[in-house]
Amino acid sequence: MGLLNVQNVSKHFGGLKAVDQVDLSIEKGQIYGLIGPNGAGKSTLFNCVAGSYAPTSGRILYNGEDITGWKPWNICRKKISRTFQIVKPFQTKTVLANALVGAFLRTANVSEAEDMAMAALKKFHLADKRNVLAKNLTIADRKRLEVARAMATAPDMLLLDECMAGLRHSEVDETLDVIREIRDSGVTIFMIEHIMRAIMTVSDRITVIQFGRKIMDGTPQEVANDERVVKAYLGESYGAA
Ligand SMILES: Nc1ncnc2c1ncn2[C@@H]1O[C@H](COP(=O)(O)OP(=O)(O)OP(=O)(O)O)[C@@H](O)[C@H]1O
Ligand SMILES: [Mg+2]
Repeated sequence: MGLLNVQNVSKHFGGLKAVDQVDLSIEKGQIYGLIGPNGAGKSTLFNCVAGSYAPTSGRILYNGEDITGWKPWNICRKKISRTFQIVKPFQTKTVLANALVGAFLRTANVSEAEDMAMAALKKFHLADKRNVLAKNLTIADRKRLEVARAMATAPDMLLLDECMAGLRHSEVDETLDVIREIRDSGVTIFMIEHIMRAIMTVSDRITVIQFGRKIMDGTPQEVANDERVVKAYLGESYGAA
């Protein structure tokens, strides 16, 4: 059994089946990708795992424990942390204060929390900007802060929702290095990404969804060569490449 098991999970909004009977299993230490067209249900599935939404049906197991329908703060205490597709820093707080919010989940000791927050900021080249207000950061830095804040909670599993969207080519490469570093430090990663060269190079395994349903899962190579995936999402030019 994997570290995270999503079993037959659905999330309906009225008549819309945003997530429709999805199964997947993520092993400890993996980088696991989730891809699919806009509106496929990727973020909704993340929201079910992270506790923002309770699934309409199905089960989510973490470390063998049923966490279905748990509240986000309890899931975070279980050491699953997430970022938001639309970044949500505390705009009028400093970069350090934003990271501290994450760290205080683990410790009530201020200097310990500061050490944890600063370690997370350093990883994302934000240490020098610790006194800058979040609202004054560039988009790239806000994206970094979003991941740093999640990392400051010292997670065992990190959910990244398009953390590279809007970054330049070189910034994507830097982020990929950081993601690998995080994985090497023992954190399992579940990530959504539209930048194919990024998700294909970094993932051990990928699930593809469309209209809420899983089309397939497999290695990046299996996914890239699958006719259904090429047709639904990647496009003929990618398949031929
Ligand atoms: N809170 C909500 N209420 C009603 N419908 C919703 C809600 N959240 C998402 N949806 C709908 O569910 C479907 C899946 O949305 P979701 O945001 O999960 O897609 P996605 O795969 O993350 O897309 P993108 O790649 O554009 O981020 C969409 O049709 C969306 O409009
Ligand atoms: Mg999304």
